[in-house]
Amino acid sequence: MIRNVGFWFFAVAAICALIGMGWGIQMSATHNHVLSPAHGHLNLVGWVTMAFFGLFYKLVPQAGESLIAKVHLGVALLGLISFVPGIAMAISGQGETLVKIGSALIIFSMLIFIFNVFKYRDAFSA
Ligand code: HEM
Repeated sequence: MIRNVGFWFFAVAAICALIGMGWGIQMSATHNHVLSPAHGHLNLVGWVTMAFFGLFYKLVPQAGESLIAKVHLGVALLGLISFVPGIAMAISGQGETLVKIGSALIIFSMLIFIFNVFKYRDAFSA
């Protein structure tokens, strides 16, 4: 059983990269870039940010196996799956509630990450 959440962060990141790139190709092929901010954020929050979280938890395994890391994964995932569709909805005039919820969750996820970075700072000394 995989105990380090770093694996799950990397798994989510790679899936986001695949979907994000496919979305980019679809935008290029159709010459319709209207949803490009949603595509950009799927790639940057989903692929890049999640991969950085995964890298930290792999580098600091005691952090990656902690309960707070699991909470972090849950909050980050909830943020991602509400934020990206929320941007698309906001752009297409279907309301801003989801993107507001998503951005709050993403900020919360980053606060948890900052907490973990400082909590496990000793792993970087020596
Ligand atoms: C197969 C790979 C990809 C394709 C075909 C693709 C395609 C596109 C296209 C067509 C646009 C719209 C450009 C415009 O309207 O001026 C765009 C925007 C963007 N893409 Fe990608 N993209 C790809 C991968 C990525 C990746 C890996 C990232 C980030 C890690 C990324 C980040 C962005 C950003 C930040 C924008 C600008 C969004 C905005 O202006 O609101 N893309 N992409």
